[in-house]
Amino acid sequence: MSTNHVRIVEVGARDGLQNEKTLLPADVKIALIDRLSSTGLKTIEATSFVSPKWVPQLADAAEVFQHIRKLPGVSYPVLVPNEQGYERARAVGVTEIAVFTAASEAFNRKNINASIDESIERFIPVMKRAKEDGVKVRGYVSTVLGCPYQGEVPVSDVVRVARRLHEVGCYEISLGDTIGVGTPAKARAMLKAVAQEVPMPALAVHFHDTYGQALANILACLEEGVRVVDSAVSGTGGCPYAKGATGNVASEDVVYMLHGLGMETGIDLDILVATGAWLAGQLHKETASRVTRALTAA
Ligand code: HMG
Ligand code: MG
Repeated sequence: MSTNHVRIVEVGARDGLQNEKTLLPADVKIALIDRLSSTGLKTIEATSFVSPKWVPQLADAAEVFQHIRKLPGVSYPVLVPNEQGYERARAVGVTEIAVFTAASEAFNRKNINASIDESIERFIPVMKRAKEDGVKVRGYVSTVLGCPYQGEVPVSDVVRVARRLHEVGCYEISLGDTIGVGTPAKARAMLKAVAQEVPMPALAVHFHDTYGQALANILACLEEGVRVVDSAVSGTGGCPYAKGATGNVASEDVVYMLHGLGMETGIDLDILVATGAWLAGQLHKETASRVTRALTAA
């Protein structure tokens, strides 16, 4: 039977910020991650060691990672696209990484300038070194419920890519609705199909809220048995390759829903809300979290 505990993977400092126009200085990012550490979160994606030409916001990855307060029992994974990124990450003491690919060929080409198979080939040497170094590796599959270029993405393609990432050694596979087009029945069917090939405890869901479906999709996936959910404080982000795509589902809203369902997260919602409101101020925009708006209304 599924447990009542849900692990939130907080991706705001990486997936959220990578798509925000306002460039934040490193000390604000460090303050953000330190605040997130004090909420009770156990997994906080800290930054990304990709090419700074592709993602200028995270060019300060090394500085940020070096200066965050690393609490015992909390993981601070970082995104790594290739061996160069792995070396940069290891040079500052990273112990958990995330590799990423997509279920759609066209999206992969735009995002990382490689086909799906080429991107997985690139991970093989990274995975080998990670294994030798005792570094944990998480894997992302993007565009699991739709692609801005090819439209529909066959579930069989999602299953194939997720299975491959699991086979090459990712301990957890995050299934990403990158452009937020999914609806609950589709999300459930996709998760169910992947879970036939990759055990449910090794799966996570990652929704963006473009069409306002993210919480409904998460609920459907919780009912199917998933117990790891990615989200971003204040609902930051977007997708540079999908016009009109909004941010990740807000962590505050996910935690509020989970606690309302009687599920445990270990997260202090008040501290999370204060962090989200503070971040929105730093980005000079209104928070995308409905819970933060409700709880901080004057
Ligand atoms: P490329 O241009 O094909 O790479 O980029 P290259 O190997 O030809 O190298 C070009 C230049 O980049 C070289 O520098 C390299 O040294 C440098 P130059 O000689 O021109 O001065 N370079 C690097 N520099 C620093 N760190 C590195 C690195 N690698 C190469 N690691 C590459 C290929 C993969 C590097 C590039 O396409 C890239 O960095 N892409 C990242 C894009 C990205 O971060 N997208 C967002 C993440 S995915 C996502 O958000 C989805 C997710 O959230 C889930 C979901 O929502 O569904 C995970
Ligand atoms: Mg994302």
